[in-house]
Amino acid sequence: MMRSVLALYSLLAAMAAAATAPGNSSLSVFDFPEYPPPMTPPPNQTLADSVEPLPADVAFSEDPALKNLKIHFDTGKFGPPVELVHAYFDFWPTGVAVASNGRIFTSFPRGNETFTLAEANTATTEVPFPDQDTNTPEAFINTTNPGFSIATEKFLLIQAVVVDGLDRIWALDVGRPRVNGTTLMAASPGGPKLLGFHQNGTRFASITFPASVVPADSSLNDLRIDLRGDGFAYLPDSSPQRPGVVVVNLRTGVSWRHLDNHPSVTVQVDLISFHNGVPNYIHPPISPFAVTPFNRFAADGVALSSDGEFFYFAPLSARRLFRIPTSFLKIQPSAVNPNAIILANQAVQDLGDTGSHLNGLESDDQGFIYLTAPEHNAINRFNPKTGMIEPFVRNPFIQWPDTLAVASLKSGGNFLYFTCNQLWLSPDYQNGTDLRTKPYAMFRVPIEGGKANQL
Ligand SMILES: *[C@@H]1O[C@H](CO)[C@@H](O)[C@H](O)[C@H]1NC(C)=O
Ligand SMILES: *[C@@H]1O[C@H](CO)[C@@H](O)[C@H](O)[C@H]1NC(C)=O
Ligand SMILES: *[C@@H]1O[C@H](CO)[C@@H](O)[C@H](O)[C@H]1NC(C)=O
Ligand SMILES: *[C@@H]1O[C@H](CO)[C@@H](O)[C@H](O)[C@H]1NC(C)=O
Ligand SMILES: *[C@@H]1O[C@H](CO)[C@@H](O)[C@H](O)[C@H]1NC(C)=O
Ligand SMILES: *[C@@H]1O[C@H](CO)[C@@H](O)[C@H](O)[C@H]1NC(C)=O
Ligand SMILES: *[C@@H]1O[C@H](CO)[C@@H](O)[C@H](O)[C@H]1NC(C)=O
Repeated sequence: MMRSVLALYSLLAAMAAAATAPGNSSLSVFDFPEYPPPMTPPPNQTLADSVEPLPADVAFSEDPALKNLKIHFDTGKFGPPVELVHAYFDFWPTGVAVASNGRIFTSFPRGNETFTLAEANTATTEVPFPDQDTNTPEAFINTTNPGFSIATEKFLLIQAVVVDGLDRIWALDVGRPRVNGTTLMAASPGGPKLLGFHQNGTRFASITFPASVVPADSSLNDLRIDLRGDGFAYLPDSSPQRPGVVVVNLRTGVSWRHLDNHPSVTVQVDLISFHNGVPNYIHPPISPFAVTPFNRFAADGVALSSDGEFFYFAPLSARRLFRIPTSFLKIQPSAVNPNAIILANQAVQDLGDTGSHLNGLESDDQGFIYLTAPEHNAINRFNPKTGMIEPFVRNPFIQWPDTLAVASLKSGGNFLYFTCNQLWLSPDYQNGTDLRTKPYAMFRVPIEGGKANQL
């Protein structure tokens, strides 16, 4: 199937080249060089539409003129085949990262979970990574400061995990566990941290943040690593109180903030998301439920362009994509660079409407930016060459695509992996009732491009 798609791409490319040959004055009005955009699959491979006889619950009429008619309908599917690669029977997953040898790492935001960073060791089980001890902090509650968590080298709540271009594992500890189903605890400096591990479990980086960069009510959500130059990490702060982006110099461990409260990182307060066609009105915020309605999640999903020049980001609770040249984010605001914040704020580019609110983003080495579309059971992709969003994969099994991870496997094949975790069905958003159904799922789909290594 991929082969025939690729053959069509070549044909389209050849046609586009012919139509734009210099000096050819016989171009017709249909020869828009950018339409269809390069690599756009033909319409009959993307439209989720088909024509079928009426199903039994519609074909009530016995009138022979209607009874056997074929009527256009939505199949709910397009794009490459979706392959189930892991089923979660215990904990609720967010992050996924896959090394080139196929090892799968995944994270579980901590409530009662006995571990928060794991490796999928069989198709249906996970084991703590690097070990149980590192996943077992001395305590969660800060006894001298109730409501706050503690400072610790061990894991409190690993929200996100990525594999970098050197096949190493980076984990983001938000530092704010949610013990016994209570509200998120506030962070103590030394709780939130960025951790680097070799695949054998040896820690090679442990970066904490001053309270001025990651305050107690920050909620770092995701991360992307660029190993060029000094090396930089980019982490969105999804806290409704602290929307912004944290930047870390990986050589020095120094960190700073950008885009604080910029419209591009903040929430759309009147967002009403639709899942499986059902509008999701958050119930009145009666404690302890509905404490974090969707219209309170700020900058969430992030991706780095394959050349490292652009940082893409999107608030969870908005239907909009943004980017900023990383050159602005790399400047630490200081007396030496007093205008760094103003210049970064001015450099944000609004890439327009995405048709769904978004969770994870991911790039590949062809320049595509994959966009989760939880409202459409889909993953689309933004093509920076055309400025357009292209349909990529849609399937009714895609039940809240959370985190995306591209992997190029040594055993062959390039894949986009993603977790599906039914987030909107969890008690916080369903007035205290858990409507999720185990197992939660991890899928993968084949892609043409490979992992963007940013080396
Ligand atoms: C000029 O454009 C027309 C229409 O797209 C195409 O059929 C023809 O092959 C082109 N001729 C040359 C010399 O490129
Ligand atoms: C799409 O249309 C082309 C050209 O009409 C046809 O050859 C191909 O089989 C169609 N593909 C699908 C998946 O229907
Ligand atoms: C408890 O919280 C306070 C305030 O955040 C912090 O200074 C202190 O280090 C914390 N104690 C521990 C053991 O983490
Ligand atoms: C969680 O609840 C259990 C049972 O009520 C209790 O033993 C435990 O101390 C609680 N943990 C925290 C951190 O509050
Ligand atoms: C966590 O465990 C405690 C004690 O077993 C239990 O009372 C509580 O309901 C659990 N909370 C969640 C969110 O599972
Ligand atoms: C783990 O892997 C790293 C990188 O390959 C290596 O430097 C280190 O010695 C290894 N540690 C152990 C305990 O094997
Ligand atoms: C939410 O749950 C509370 C407590 O059980 C109940 O009083 C309230 O009516 C519920 N609200 C809705 C909209 O179902």
